[in-house]
Amino acid sequence: MRPLWSIAAWEAIRGDSFVPVLNSAASIELIHTYSLVHDDLPCMDDDNERRGSPTVHIAFGEAPALLVGDALLTEAFRLASEPSEIMAATRAHVVAEIAEAAGFMGMIGGQAADIGLAGKVEDVETLKRLHEGKTGALIRISTRVGAICAEATPQDLAAITEYGQCIGLAFQLADDVLDAEEDAGDGGPPSYATLLGVEECQRQASTLRDQAIAALTPFGARGAILEKLARYTVDRDI
Ligand code: IPE
Ligand code: MG
Repeated sequence: MRPLWSIAAWEAIRGDSFVPVLNSAASIELIHTYSLVHDDLPCMDDDNERRGSPTVHIAFGEAPALLVGDALLTEAFRLASEPSEIMAATRAHVVAEIAEAAGFMGMIGGQAADIGLAGKVEDVETLKRLHEGKTGALIRISTRVGAICAEATPQDLAAITEYGQCIGLAFQLADDVLDAEEDAGDGGPPSYATLLGVEECQRQASTLRDQAIAALTPFGARGAILEKLARYTVDRDI
């Protein structure tokens, strides 16, 4: 979904071909994929299966999985900085934003908190901070990257960022509801569903979805794809 968010944000800003945004959009997906390969490793979540298939370390071994992650992460930045129709200064801006979202201030910070490096997660506020890093940062940035590549005005970029911020959290709330429905009460770590209850979790996800959609008002019909993605984020069943 992350590249789709970049493309949809581009489309909200301008109506021409979205091909120029594809490198940056794909680079975010490469980072997302690397994070999952490493996340599944025995020293992390130790998971054997992802999306119905054996995880990379199960299929190919632990050292190859480590290197696959390293390669995906490195390739992401090669791809995002590669000469393209996007102006060099804009590409540099995009690379810096992706690095910030993927790094210790964003996704890695969230992953570190998730494995307990920032203390116990016992309340909603701490969990929210964790998820803003772990999942939210990359989702927010996928929308911003589309808008930055499209040379959005500061006002339009702020609207897209508001959308991305809301939808990043809504995505995680919806995820936790789906997980709670799948493995009710398996004694896992706290989630929004266990801390807030499934109904409150669903209510907050819907509120965030509506807030995200409201942020799209300045884009009129051009915001239609972002709106559809917002609805799908909260109403999906996978
Ligand atoms: C993985 O988080 C998120 C990142 C790698 C940033 P989780 O461990 O919560 O997600 P799944 O259950 O492995 O997909
Ligand atoms: Mg995991």
